[in-house]
Amino acid sequence: MVLVGAGISVSCGVPDFRSRNGLYALAQRLGLELNDPQELFDIHCFDDDEGVNFYKFAHALWPRPGIQPSPTHRFLSALDRAGRLLRVYTQNIDGLERAANITSSKIIECHGTLLTAKCRGNRGKGRGKTSKCRAVCNAADLCQDVAAHQVPRCQKCGGVWKPDVTFFGEPLVEKVGKTLEKDRGTADALLVIGTSLQVAPISKVMGWLPHKIPQILINYEVVAPPRATSDGFDVSLIGEADVIVAHLAAAMGLDIERGGPPGDMDMEGGTTPGDKGDSIGDIAGTATSGSGAVHSNGVAARGPDAVVERGAVWAPKASRNQADGELFVRRAAELLTKDAADVLMVETVTCDACTDLCGSDVWACQACFGYDLCGRCFHNGGVETHQTLEGSKHTFVKE
Ligand code: OAD
Repeated sequence: MVLVGAGISVSCGVPDFRSRNGLYALAQRLGLELNDPQELFDIHCFDDDEGVNFYKFAHALWPRPGIQPSPTHRFLSALDRAGRLLRVYTQNIDGLERAANITSSKIIECHGTLLTAKCRGNRGKGRGKTSKCRAVCNAADLCQDVAAHQVPRCQKCGGVWKPDVTFFGEPLVEKVGKTLEKDRGTADALLVIGTSLQVAPISKVMGWLPHKIPQILINYEVVAPPRATSDGFDVSLIGEADVIVAHLAAAMGLDIERGGPPGDMDMEGGTTPGDKGDSIGDIAGTATSGSGAVHSNGVAARGPDAVVERGAVWAPKASRNQADGELFVRRAAELLTKDAADVLMVETVTCDACTDLCGSDVWACQACFGYDLCGRCFHNGGVETHQTLEGSKHTFVKE
């Protein structure tokens, strides 16, 4: 199972959210009137100002024509072709997993997509529905308005078009939780790539899966899931995602240089990666060789800059006895002191009953992935609206 975030699309020219040059920093530079840049994706703010702030900014995130998947997307597609991908849970809204030809049933777009949009209906100013409009359109149809920083409106009812992205204050589409509930007993390794893990409930995926399966991070920086839900990664491979996956692919005998239809087994050379019996868990543990192939598309497969394993820092084998080995260890130790679990998590848990932010009073259901209640709804018994998986009961635990 793979969980990805904005970091896997940065090399395609799509900025991530929280880095220094990310979208939230851009929102601040644009001088939008926001208390917090996350308000750009807050459904209550969107309805309150009828999309004005969102569309002042949307041009920066709108999918550009001709954009191509990154080597990391192609790595996921190669895992799929080799029959080794259970599912990719993506927080990204750029549609690049689809473009990489990953089997569609294996892609779960946890935060929706920018590729389609729905009319919010004619609701007058502010919250609350006044009329329902079921119109849908393609994001491409809104391009002109988006480029002009204007709010696009439905020709039928005059309502505002909202992309099918899950905003803060909206529940995740049901498919996300239901698929995670199904995959919980099947996944045999978790790879997390290019995400800061700051947004719930996706940040809780690690704690949702059985502890016995290897959980591996590939990211520029050390990050951690909320402490209440998980005790962190088994191994963190720190560095550029495209470079690290090229190294893993080389070790696993996967071809990430071609696209190709899903389910198309790699027949070249007569060895499918499955034949080698190398699992990602095994390989991540040995992904420290400082040398490595360079793929013909120019992606160096030299592996991670640092490897962090449950408090211990590894130097790549090749540099361990060399002058730069010590430097390397020092840099990795610096990364560790930034222990991400100690960094205050941005509180993003939304109550699934009333859609308000839960604040510090979060009651999480242990039977349903991502079903959380705020203290008020928990004490008022706000569970009736939600179906559990057949045969299981809601069991709430305070986080
Ligand atoms: P973030 O911007 O929060 O985190 C991206 C992570 O990827 C950071 O830790 C970066 O250091 C890392 N990164 C960036 N480039 C990288 C690279 N080339 N190689 C390796 N790592 C790299 O993005 P997400 O975690 O995806 O919600 O954000 C989660 C959600 O927050 C998004 O889905 C979005 C946002 O609010 C919605 O759109 C609703």
